[in-house]
Amino acid sequence: MMKTALITGGSCGIGLETSKHFAQNGYQLLWVSLLEDELQTAKQQLNELFPKTPIHTLALDLSKEDAAQKVHKWVNQNNWKLDVLINNAGMGTYGFLHETNWDKEMTMINLNLLNVYRMTRLFLEDMQKRNEGTIINISSISALQPVPKMTTYASTKAFIAHFSKSLNEELKMQNSKVRVLTVLPAAIRDTNFKAAAKMNKVKTFEGLATTTAQEVAKDTWNGFNKKKGVIISGWKGRFLSAFRHITPDFILQSLVNREVKEA
Ligand SMILES: NC(=O)c1ccc[n+]([C@@H]2O[C@H](COP(=O)([O-])OP(=O)(O)OC[C@H]3O[C@@H](n4cnc5c(N)ncnc54)[C@H](OP(=O)(O)O)[C@@H]3O)[C@@H](O)[C@H]2O)c1
Repeated sequence: MMKTALITGGSCGIGLETSKHFAQNGYQLLWVSLLEDELQTAKQQLNELFPKTPIHTLALDLSKEDAAQKVHKWVNQNNWKLDVLINNAGMGTYGFLHETNWDKEMTMINLNLLNVYRMTRLFLEDMQKRNEGTIINISSISALQPVPKMTTYASTKAFIAHFSKSLNEELKMQNSKVRVLTVLPAAIRDTNFKAAAKMNKVKTFEGLATTTAQEVAKDTWNGFNKKKGVIISGWKGRFLSAFRHITPDFILQSLVNREVKEA
């Protein structure tokens, strides 16, 4: 039987690149993203590369309170069993906190944080009953250090990292075969994220640790196969993070502060 991977935000950026690895390795794909048109265009593109891969799509606003329940119902009604859940859909905001748009920040907290909590919780129960499955939560390297002008975004990603790592330890404690992989990508130039967050001029996308959606997808696939608990994605990000523990905090913080300024 074909294995099944559900990828939120599977129709572009990191989600689409990651989908390619799962398609190549014989998984059927379930995509949940916001825009129906984009889902259909991406589906067509991926089916040209992998004609045998079934791709099922659901256009849904995952920032809504009942979205995770709707996704769970969609999966159950179709009798799909998730081998892998990738909570990837996310967005950013940029600016000093008091200047950011209140509604956009609330949407981001709902999408990046509460939806990931709800999706993880609902599908974890199913996976635990079967004692198999992997949840991959896409956090960010911004979870590692305070990030001014991305205060709320970095905090949502810090929650995801802490939540996912703690949960993975909990599962080990219960001798469960279910696993949670936390992925911490560095800044990516080639996805819609930068423009959507109005960060076109921000230095970090040309900065020290930039990576690509392809590299994040490859690292995620490898981390999943090696049953890792946490990966920092992008070789430059990994290289720099190796010095984190021997670098005084004020130096790290001043580097971050410089990276989040506009050029
Ligand atoms: N880009 C970076 O520098 C970077 C760095 C570290 C971590 N990350 C994280 O990586 C993940 C993927 O980002 P990306 O760079 O691939 O960004 P992206 O190209 O903007 O893709 C974001 C995906 O999320 C979906 N999405 C956004 N809002 C949604 C909503 N309300 N409901 C349902 N789906 C929604 C989008 O669907 P539609 O296109 O249909 O709207 C899209 O498929 C995010 O969690 C992001 O925080 C990104």
